[in-house]
Amino acid sequence: MKVTVVGAGAVGASCAEYIAIKNFASEVVLLDIKEGFAEGKAMDLMQTASLNGFDTKITGVTNDYSKTAESDICVITSGIPRKPGMTREELIGINAGIVKEVSSNLIKHSPETIIIVVSNPMDTMTYLVHKSTDLPKNRIIGMGGALDSARFKYRLAEALGAPISDVDGMVIGGHSDTGMVPLTRLATRNSVPVTEFLSEDRLGQVMEDTKVGGATLTKLLGTSAWYAPGAAVSGLVQAIACDQKKMFPCSVLLEGEYGLNDICIGAPVILGRNGIEKIVEIELSDAEKTHMKESAEGVRKTNDLL
Ligand code: LAC
Repeated sequence: MKVTVVGAGAVGASCAEYIAIKNFASEVVLLDIKEGFAEGKAMDLMQTASLNGFDTKITGVTNDYSKTAESDICVITSGIPRKPGMTREELIGINAGIVKEVSSNLIKHSPETIIIVVSNPMDTMTYLVHKSTDLPKNRIIGMGGALDSARFKYRLAEALGAPISDVDGMVIGGHSDTGMVPLTRLATRNSVPVTEFLSEDRLGQVMEDTKVGGATLTKLLGTSAWYAPGAAVSGLVQAIACDQKKMFPCSVLLEGEYGLNDICIGAPVILGRNGIEKIVEIELSDAEKTHMKESAEGVRKTNDLL
C-alpha cells in the first residue's frame, strides 16, 4: 500500500506521521514544492521509526511526481492555510489553481488512485477535483466531517464531564463555520441520547463551539490546526487501505441523496478498498433538513466562485 501526501506543511506532515505510526502502509511519499522541505520532514519522521515502532518507509520529494507513481491513495493538503479572522472560503483564489494542478499531476502517475482532498475551502476543492478530472465519484473524497465529528465529540465530552470514549456523534453538511450540521439529536453517551443529560441551551453551545472549532484554533495558533486534521485523514486512509467498511461523514458528490444534486458536501459514507462504497442516507428531522439545505446553499455560493 503506497500513499502520497502532497504538502509537507503541518497538516501534511501530521498525516504522514499518523499514517506511518499506524503501520498499515508500506510507503508514504511526502511531496512539497519547497526545495528540500519534504526531504527534511521525511528524514526527521524516519528517525522516529525505531522509537515509535513502525516500518512504513517515508520518502520526501521536491515536486517530483514520478516518485508518487502507482500510489493507491493520494492526499492533497497543499495550498495556503487560513490566518486568524479568515474564513476557509477566502482561500479559494489561490488554492483552486494549486488543487487543480496537483490533482492532474497525481493522476498522471497514478491513474487508479483514490484522492482525499483536505485543502480549503474543502467542499469546493473536492467539487473542483470532480469537475477537472475524470476520476469516478467513489475515488474522490473530501476530508471534513471526520475532523468536525472529532471536535464535536470533544465538546460533548467536555459538556458531559465524560471521557471521550463514552461519546459518539457525527457532523454532516459543509466544512465551514456556518455550514456544519452537528447531529445532536443522534449523539449518545454509551448509547443513551445526550439529550437525556444536557439542556437544550448547553447542547446549543456544544453545536456553536463545534462549528467554530477550526476558527478557535486558528486564533490560538496563528494558523490552522494540524494534529486533529492529520489524525482524521489517517483514519480515512486506514479505512480504505484495510478495507474496513467504516462509516465516516465525508464530502462526497451527491446525486439526489439528501435532496441535493451536483454538489460535494458532508454526508455519511462507507469507506473501503474502493473508496466511497456507499452513501448512507439517514432520516433527518425537519430542523436538520433545513440546516442541510442552508449549508448546501453556502457551499454552492463558494462553488460559483470557481
Ligand atoms: C480545520 C481545517 C483543516 O478545520 O479546515 O482545522
